[in-house]
Amino acid sequence: MLLKDKVAIVTGGSQGIGRRIAIVFAAEGAKVVVAARNLARLQETVDAITEKGGRALAVQTDLCDEKQIEHMVALTIKTFGVVDVLVNNSGVAGPTVSVADTDLGQWNETLAINLTGSMLCAKHVLKHMIPRKCGAIVNIGSERGRTGDGKSGSPMRASYACSKAGMIALTECLSTEVGTHNIRVNCVTAAAVRGERIVNVFKHQSEATGVSFEELMSKMVEDYSLRRAVEPDEVARAAAFLASDAASGITGQTLPVSCGIHVIF
Ligand SMILES: NC(=O)c1ccc[n+]([C@@H]2O[C@H](COP(=O)([O-])OP(=O)(O)OC[C@H]3O[C@@H](n4cnc5c(N)ncnc54)[C@H](OP(=O)(O)O)[C@@H]3O)[C@@H](O)[C@H]2O)c1
Repeated sequence: MLLKDKVAIVTGGSQGIGRRIAIVFAAEGAKVVVAARNLARLQETVDAITEKGGRALAVQTDLCDEKQIEHMVALTIKTFGVVDVLVNNSGVAGPTVSVADTDLGQWNETLAINLTGSMLCAKHVLKHMIPRKCGAIVNIGSERGRTGDGKSGSPMRASYACSKAGMIALTECLSTEVGTHNIRVNCVTAAAVRGERIVNVFKHQSEATGVSFEELMSKMVEDYSLRRAVEPDEVARAAAFLASDAASGITGQTLPVSCGIHVIF
């Protein structure tokens, strides 16, 4: 088991990729805290884990509120004694709109949840990881946020892409700060992952660009070497590896789980 007896916080564990991460981590032996706003959906994740004999806790948390994050981390320590792993998975798709038409409120909300919320979760778990001199943080980024290789530009998606580019910068900066405390920080960048979120993103992109939904979907698949979208489990397994001692020599890195994307979607 990759994560035997580790205590892991997974933000956004109420659905989608975050739920898969929580379930895979529990199957790998971790005690899991899932944090998001919708308590009923968080509880469904906890039930799925406990039905299989695992241990999990749901903590209602809005990442836009630092006090709630502090409370969530405190409850993790109270319940399980320590925190070994943080997976910063919560994130919203943000608006599909040109920069010229961007509403500041929507821009700020996307950055607040996707990037600032992740930074604050890291800040509060580090208070417990640094004295123990161990820990792993895995940030869930996106291929839309990859920079420096000419692949990050996607029309109408600036707020999301900037928030996810920020996750890579956060990963790299933080890894240099906490390495001497034996804490590792890495990022998984996913391309389009099969599920409700990506269907909605492509619907909005279709409305904004006039290109049909079907054309966008088939173009996406053509641009991936494996000719398919990523499975949620594939992101979860990459996160489990980076969170585990099997990745003990890896920090400050970005691991694409992209089915071999060669053109940005
Ligand atoms: N789906 C893809 O194709 C894809 C590709 C690349 C990267 N990603 C990234 O992978 C992560 C998960 O994506 P997904 O597809 O699973 O999305 P999703 O199904 O929309 O789930 C998003 C999660 O974020 C939580 N969340 C949203 N706002 C929050 C807030 N203010 N405070 C706390 N939690 C909040 C949601 O829970 P509540 O609403 O209950 O708060 C939910 O659990 C995201 O960071 C996303 O950007 C996804």
